[in-house]
Amino acid sequence: MKIKSAEFVMSNSDVAKCPKNTIPEYAFIGRSNVGKSSLINMLTNRKSLAKTSGKPGKTQLINHFIINNNWFLVDLPGYGYARVSKTSKKTFQKFITNYFEQRKQLVSAFVLVDIRHQPQPIDLDFMMYLGENGIPFGIIFTKADKLKPKAIEKHVDDYCNVLLETWEELPPYFITSSSKKIGQDDVLDFIEATNEEIANLSSDL
Ligand code: GTP
Ligand code: MG
Repeated sequence: MKIKSAEFVMSNSDVAKCPKNTIPEYAFIGRSNVGKSSLINMLTNRKSLAKTSGKPGKTQLINHFIINNNWFLVDLPGYGYARVSKTSKKTFQKFITNYFEQRKQLVSAFVLVDIRHQPQPIDLDFMMYLGENGIPFGIIFTKADKLKPKAIEKHVDDYCNVLLETWEELPPYFITSSSKKIGQDDVLDFIEATNEEIANLSSDL
């Protein structure tokens, strides 16, 4: 898919106030600092559409970006950021879970995981939560530039084997690096194909 336009629409912490358009929506979630905002910039060929930082906890709200005027990308805060207070963690969890449970336009989530790490309970739990709520998701491995090709292969294989202990089928997954621009076409082509499927389904009705 070619990115013709990518614009920030709005930020908020209340799913009820998110854009009303019913165009397909894709949300990026994962631990703080895993590279969600950087990935959004890489996918859209923009330097600073989404705000990034070396310090975890940069993205604090639900951020909507409209792409090619026909679908939304959503940048979300990270989970597992220890330095926020317990109260703000609870508030955060609530607005994020409200988002996932109530946002009807959400077509798929992408759970981002750092390719260097073993499967972490917090990520596996979040995938389970998505599964239990019937929310389709894909996995995006980030920071692939940090490993050599052989190590990438091994880490992804190990990750898939752990997933297969609890899941019957593997979700779609993608290997990316925002700094080396790896995986852009894979993710965008997946979104394009999914958007086409949705358009065909609705024209069949
Ligand atoms: P929060 O908003 O705090 O939840 O973080 P985030 O997941 O949006 O991460 P962000 O995109 O802000 O990136 C966090 C740090 O990781 C920054 O220092 C980025 O430069 C770095 N980073 C992100 N993607 C990559 C990548 O593909 N390769 C490398 N080497 N560094 C990356
Ligand atoms: Mg961010």
